[in-house]
Amino acid sequence: MKRIAVLASGNGSNLEAILAAIADGRIQNARVVLVISDKEEAYALVRAQKHNIPTRVFRPQDYPSREAYDRAMIEFLQAEAIDLVVMAGFMRLVTPEFVAAFRHRIMNIHPSLLPAFPGTRGVADALAYGVKVTGCTVHFVDEGMDTGPIILQEALPVRPDDTVDSLQERIHALEHRLYPQAIDLWVRGKIKIRGRRCCIDE
Ligand code: GAR
Repeated sequence: MKRIAVLASGNGSNLEAILAAIADGRIQNARVVLVISDKEEAYALVRAQKHNIPTRVFRPQDYPSREAYDRAMIEFLQAEAIDLVVMAGFMRLVTPEFVAAFRHRIMNIHPSLLPAFPGTRGVADALAYGVKVTGCTVHFVDEGMDTGPIILQEALPVRPDDTVDSLQERIHALEHRLYPQAIDLWVRGKIKIRGRRCCIDE
């Protein structure tokens, strides 16, 4: 049984989608055993509590540096014997030490077709740029911002009358389907990483 920790800063709808996929068997042999946030007010924590999943808040202001913050988190994740770290709307860049401690065991979801529109405003930036197609990306986390090897990616047309909210809503629906798929592939050992490329053997 693989032990998953979900890191979330906000609403936690992706957390909820992952929990639903575990509950209905789309993801097998894995459990979310821990939800961590950098924000006490994150609704993701409430969702976790409703599912009786232990939560923990790491407040950035309690640590002297990003390195110290990440070191505390690494120690905690290792003590909890976490196999896979799933970032679901976790709006912090992790340090190289964190990446090294969990290399190819940290996933992130991003609301654009990377490498286009990285950062915290992927949907708004894509809309403002005027792209006709956008989408979402699940990738492994490396030392860069949204630069790690891509696991799954799916495209979505932008409609002429889209607003950030309407586009975000459709991207969310895509994310809720794609993230559980990527986690399932990882749990079943189906992802082979060759350099930057993830090869999926089904
Ligand atoms: C998701 O759309 C995710 O792609 C995005 O935050 C949202 C979190 O939603 N992440 C990023 O922009 C990372 N750079 P949720 O809290 O409802 O899962």
